Amino acid sequence: MSRVRTAVLISGRGSNMDALIRAAQDPAYPAEIVLVVANNPDAGGLAKAAAEGIETAAIDHRPFGKDRESHERMIDARLRQSGVELVALAGYMRVLTPFLVRAWAGRMLNIHPSLLPLYPGLHTHERAIASGDAFCGCTVHYVTEGVDEGPILGQASVAITPGDTPDDLALRVLTLEHRLYPDCLAKAAEAVRGP
Ligand code: GRF
Repeated sequence: MSRVRTAVLISGRGSNMDALIRAAQDPAYPAEIVLVVANNPDAGGLAKAAAEGIETAAIDHRPFGKDRESHERMIDARLRQSGVELVALAGYMRVLTPFLVRAWAGRMLNIHPSLLPLYPGLHTHERAIASGDAFCGCTVHYVTEGVDEGPILGQASVAITPGDTPDDLALRVLTLEHRLYPDCLAKAAEAVRGP
């Protein structure tokens, strides 16, 4: 059975990308990571992906200024050039325009470090602590036009204990992310491949 050709979009260190690459090293995993794209040419994840023999592309957003759609059109063209079928955003720190969201509707996932619908946006762990929550966690969801909205594929949670700092939570949740994302990408790839 052929595996679903998947691209990972990153902006930084790419630890979630790494978790997806590792999962896809199992030939039985339903997705294959064929391309990693970064909007930031200095993203640490680019070198990690290249070291694994995966094709990479740095498509810097800065020359496009405020024209976010033209930047996305370049990304879209690059994805199609590599025959990509599914896209995983993994620490991709740009808000997408409707162009890219619509181009990949039902075929683009994101991981977010909160138990959505709680705390879309930034500073999720600070907000969970400030609210006195007992749990925090992460969510993998399909990407739709609303930021950090879209149908949820999976969530994982962990207890918040008294005295926890945002950094403590970020570390604990990241460990969960690295397990959750490969599971959810597998589910999405199976949905693309069909029965
Ligand atoms: C993760 O916490 C992810 O949930 C968020 O950005 C962070 C990216 O980390 N969207 P990494 O680059 O995958 O290490």
